[in-house]
Amino acid sequence: MRNDFPTLVIFGASGDLTKRKLIPALFQLLTEKLIPEHIKVVGFARREKTDEQFRAEMRDALSEFSRANPTAESELLQSFISRLYYQCGNYDDPQSFLKLSKRLSSLDEQQGLPGGSGNYLFYLSTPPSVFGLIAKQLKDAGLVCKPQDTDRWTRVIVEKPFGRDLQSAQRLNNELLSVLDESQIYRIDHYLGKETVQNIMAFRFGNSIFEPLWNAKYIDHIQITVAESVAVGSRAGYYDHSGAIRDMVQNHILQLLALIAMEPPASFEANAVRDEKVKVLTALRLYKGEEANTAVVRAQYSAGAIHKSHIPSYLEEHGVAEGSKTETYIAIKAFVDNWRWAGVPFYIRTGKALKERVSEISIVFKQPPLALFHHEHHDGHVEGDDMPANSLTLRVQPNESIRLNFGLKVPGPDMILDPNDMEFVYDEVFDTAPPEAYERLILNAMLGDSTLFIRNDEVEAAWTFVDSIIESWQHANAAKVHEYEAGSWGPQAADKLLANGGHRWLIY
Ligand code: BG6
Repeated sequence: MRNDFPTLVIFGASGDLTKRKLIPALFQLLTEKLIPEHIKVVGFARREKTDEQFRAEMRDALSEFSRANPTAESELLQSFISRLYYQCGNYDDPQSFLKLSKRLSSLDEQQGLPGGSGNYLFYLSTPPSVFGLIAKQLKDAGLVCKPQDTDRWTRVIVEKPFGRDLQSAQRLNNELLSVLDESQIYRIDHYLGKETVQNIMAFRFGNSIFEPLWNAKYIDHIQITVAESVAVGSRAGYYDHSGAIRDMVQNHILQLLALIAMEPPASFEANAVRDEKVKVLTALRLYKGEEANTAVVRAQYSAGAIHKSHIPSYLEEHGVAEGSKTETYIAIKAFVDNWRWAGVPFYIRTGKALKERVSEISIVFKQPPLALFHHEHHDGHVEGDDMPANSLTLRVQPNESIRLNFGLKVPGPDMILDPNDMEFVYDEVFDTAPPEAYERLILNAMLGDSTLFIRNDEVEAAWTFVDSIIESWQHANAAKVHEYEAGSWGPQAADKLLANGGHRWLIY
């Protein structure tokens, strides 16, 4: 194992992310011996707390959220807990950062490193409004080393949301880049930490059979669905200022789209991969004014039921502004205007309070040039030429799988075809549970691999696309916010969006 592992400092350590995701992820990495036992974690937040209190809270968090399920007597658990520390401080107070710096130096010394000579990974799990301030305070307290230093390093992980439009994202980038080098900034999109999402690249570029078909000549259209069955619930306060396009499309969905649409990179090195993703994001067609009316459907859920429990309408949720027009569902017919994808619609959709939690990407191929065979429906009814097109579906979650759907002859005297799946299910093939996204991402940041993190130009290209749609909503003739019942698959207008192009959602 490498010997340059850092001390991790979590800003916003009192928040949910620390106890639900970060601490359990670190413990899992320790269990799997992917990080060294002596790793130390300092939680930093405004609330007064002792090390002991912080340790007790994290111990509880581990018993609730760790997938390693440690017993209270576990030696590894005891030793991990004993290396958690807490530093109370204010983000706008330089003294707090000087205290932090002293604390880190003394922890370095305990480990036998001359004071302040350790490596530091700072995790900004705070509102984005303080990202720039924290970075500057770190610099002023002497906690940021130069990127060209050879014997020690500083890296900063920033959580989403990275801005709420292009302008604020650029401002954030400028603030961070005035203190840090781009190579020191690790912008998280937890979807990139998911095994199935990384498998998009492995599947496309580690195999030779699909890539020759991966273009406008053979592909009719692509569907990306990220459906959630949870309603906004306790997050309504945040969500009402964000909506589905900022919360899910700008980051997770556009990342999925970029991985599906990108050219093969020359290597699997961070900048080579990210260069190719940026090219896709900058080739996304922008919608101006009323153009968006025919390409975008936004909607809000009304009361309904999911898995038999009653869901109040979005407008009834606590924290939602009266008469709010925030979309909890969005469907977009997007185009990547480049040679590979000219004319191929990418239908993307996401929403809260939908019928099921499922994320899938389907590549729908073109029909054969001539329909020679009949197709049998499941009810036995035989049709002429409406055989479903071949499709390849990557199921991101849950029950991760890859399935290829094609027509097979029904045994018997007639030439009748029936569409069938050839399916690979992760769980059945590999006997280990896939790692949690945060495990992979924290480890990669510690190892200095930023392939699965978002570069500044990617963020800005994604906002440029999203802003074009949000701006169109300000237009006097903007299409209305539709309604859909909680527990349904979304508004009918989204079905029409596909029907207009002769398509239909594969999950409905
Ligand atoms: C987050 C969004 O980034 O992703 C949430 O803010 C959403 O609104 C979540 O629920 C979905 O993540 P996952 O991993 O559960 O699909």
